[in-house]
Amino acid sequence: ESLLGPGSTAVAHPNIALIKYWGKRDEQLVIPYVDSLSMTLDVFPTHTTVRLDPEAQTDGVILDGRPAEGEPRRRVVVFLDLVRELAGRTERAAVDTRNAVPTGAGLASSASGFAALAVAATAAYGLDLDPTALSRLARRGSASASRSIFGGFALCHAGRGVGEAADLSSYAEPVPLPDFDPALVVALVNAGPKAVSSRAAMRRTVETSPLYQAWATSSKGDLTDMRAALLRGDLEAVGEIAERNALGMHATMLAARPAVRYLSPATVAVLDGVLQLRKDGVAAYATMDAGPNVKVLCHPEAAPRVAETLLAAAPGCSVLTARRGPGARLRTADE
Ligand code: PMV
Repeated sequence: ESLLGPGSTAVAHPNIALIKYWGKRDEQLVIPYVDSLSMTLDVFPTHTTVRLDPEAQTDGVILDGRPAEGEPRRRVVVFLDLVRELAGRTERAAVDTRNAVPTGAGLASSASGFAALAVAATAAYGLDLDPTALSRLARRGSASASRSIFGGFALCHAGRGVGEAADLSSYAEPVPLPDFDPALVVALVNAGPKAVSSRAAMRRTVETSPLYQAWATSSKGDLTDMRAALLRGDLEAVGEIAERNALGMHATMLAARPAVRYLSPATVAVLDGVLQLRKDGVAAYATMDAGPNVKVLCHPEAAPRVAETLLAAAPGCSVLTARRGPGARLRTADE
C-alpha cells in the first residue's frame, strides 16, 4: 500500500430533491425520464480517495472501512472504467470511500458517493473537466449524483434524444438562489439498508405502475411551479409543491406490481407531526426518498420546534437540522 502515491481526495454532500427523479429511460447511460431539482445539504459528507495503482490487476474498493463486494463494488469499477476511457489510461486504482451516514438507507449516499468519486477519480487520472462534464459523468454512477456536484440548489435535465445525444444533454446545473436559505430537518426513523434498491424499484415502477406516466406528466407542472416559487423565495409554496411531488412519487411505487413501499409506520407518524405543525401555524413540509426517513422543509427559526415535534411524533427517531451545503470539491493536503 505504501507504494501508492498520495492520491486525490474529494468531499461531496448529499442532496434532497424537491422535485424528484424517479425512473430511467436508458438504464445503461442512466438517463432519467424527468427533470429534477434539489438542495445540496451541509451534513453527511462522503470522503473519497482515489490512488492509481500501476502494479494492480484489479481495482481495490474500500467502502466504510471494508472491502466492497458484489453490486456496490461493480458500480465503482464500471465508473472507473468510464473515467479511464475518458482519460485514455489503463492503470487500476485503489478507492477508499467513507460515508457519514449508513450506505443504502435512502439518505442519498449514492448522490454524495458518486459526486465525490467523479471529482476524486478525474483528478487522479489527470482529467480536467468543467462542472457540466463532471455532473454528466457523476450521473453515470447515479442520476442524483449529477446534482451533488453543485452546492445550494441544482436542476438536473433529463436530456433529449437517445444515445450520445441523451448523454450530452443530461446533466445538472446550479440554480442560483442566494437569498433562499431554508432549513431541512431530517428525521431518521430507520437507518438500516433498504429492502429494494432504488434501481430495482425504479425499473419495476416504470414497467408495471399504471400511475407512473401520470406522475411524470404532473411532475413537469410541479417543476414549473417550483421554479417560480423558489424565485419568489416563497417557502410555503416550495414546501407544498415538494410534498405533493414526493407523495405522488411514492404513489407510483405503491401502485407497482408487486408494490414497493418504503414508508414505515414511523414515517407516517412523522407525517402526522408535520400536519399538526401546519395546523398550529408552522410552515413545515415533508419529502421522502427511497427509504422511510423524512426530511422536513421549514424556516430556520422554526427548526427547533419542528425537530421537537417530529421527535415526539415518532419516539425513537433521531433528528438533525441541515441547511444548504457546498458542491463537491477536491480536498487540499492540509485538510
Ligand atoms: O440516483 P439514485 O439511484 O440514488 O435515485 C434516488 C432517487 C430519489 O432519491 C428517490 C429521488 C431523487 O431525485 O433524489
